[in-house]
Amino acid sequence: MTNKNAVYPGSYDPLTNGHIDIIERGLRIFEKITVAVLKNPQKKYLFDLDERLEILNHTFKDNPRIEVDCFEGLLVDYLNKREITTVVRGLRAISDFEVEFQMALMNRRLSPDVETIFLVPSVNYSFLSSRLVKEIYQLGGEIRPMVPELVDRKLKEKYRL
Ligand code: PNS
Repeated sequence: MTNKNAVYPGSYDPLTNGHIDIIERGLRIFEKITVAVLKNPQKKYLFDLDERLEILNHTFKDNPRIEVDCFEGLLVDYLNKREITTVVRGLRAISDFEVEFQMALMNRRLSPDVETIFLVPSVNYSFLSSRLVKEIYQLGGEIRPMVPELVDRKLKEKYRL
């Protein structure tokens, strides 16, 4: 069975241009990408689920090939429910490899049909992460070209910059 659709799961706390770069690359391979936001009640996010969904819906509103959704619980259960077997993840550096490799193999173990495709972002974003973005804004720095305009605005609101 070939895959026309793929799921790109993540926390998106918040969305960065690195995520967008991976989605654009994914759309060269897949007809449709479902950006699936994790809702984990145990985890403390800077942006709550509604804010993360609002940012994603706003950013991708003009592209019918990008769907925004959320899920709770195991990724493989969500994939089964949506009848999608391909997961897209970005691989920035060797440091990502270990955790991504472990997740891909564990997901395959949980659901043997699931395949994970790793895409390499532009070098411009190879050092970018949501965690660093939050830290930089929190400390009064600004990296507007690294995040969409809406994220920049919301981060400034959160940290009263
Ligand atoms: O953006 P992130 O935080 O790197 O994304 C991690 C994510 C959401 C892909 C991963 O934590 C996940 O799939 N969580 C859902 C729970 C699950 O399925 N855990 C087992 C993974 S092997």
